[in-house]
Amino acid sequence: MKFFADTAIVADIEELAQYGLLDGVTTNPSLIAKSGRDFKQVIAEICALTDGPVSAEVAAMEAPAMIAEGEHLARIADNVVIKLPLTLEGLKACRHFTAQGIRTNVTLCFSANQALLAAKAGATYISPFVGRLDDLGLDGMELIREIRMICDTYAFETEVLAASVRSANHVKEAAIAGAHVATVPPVVIKGLASHVLTDKGLAQFAKDWAETGQSIL
Ligand code: G3P
Repeated sequence: MKFFADTAIVADIEELAQYGLLDGVTTNPSLIAKSGRDFKQVIAEICALTDGPVSAEVAAMEAPAMIAEGEHLARIADNVVIKLPLTLEGLKACRHFTAQGIRTNVTLCFSANQALLAAKAGATYISPFVGRLDDLGLDGMELIREIRMICDTYAFETEVLAASVRSANHVKEAAIAGAHVATVPPVVIKGLASHVLTDKGLAQFAKDWAETGQSIL
């Protein structure tokens, strides 16, 4: 499973890249607002840090304006992926970009039927929001399983990108459910390496090693 960093904070992306834990990046208007920075500048900086796909979301609501915005964003770098909302207008724009050979990420997906429409429109990625479904007492991971089954059954090339992933458990469950990608906040990605027994065991090894008085080099 690929890891995309779900953030618009360039320093966090740089750090993940150093650990080899960065397969791509997703942004959205809320993350851009949180960064307090210029959208296109941030996307250009992120694209310079990774060869992986970098999702940049359109703001328009009608297909012609989405297409104009997306074409503008696609010119920033070759690895920009145009993020479009899962609306009829967004699907229309998705078909346009698919025909142009420009990659797309169809976002704000909350049902298998929505995902099926995105796959039929040729979306490169479909982004079901697992955390927001869980917030409502629904089962976000069940949606990942359903979409993966649909994509496999009909051999759609669309990749299932688990989004609104908020915890280590979400990452594990998304992997088990067969998500091709999970987009995850950097703090959660880094947290995956932590375990209290790792810390405890390492402290004991360090103590015992010091008592040997030896050095390896
Ligand atoms: O990728 C979409 C994601 O950023 C949404 O996450 O936590 O706002 O539901 P959240």
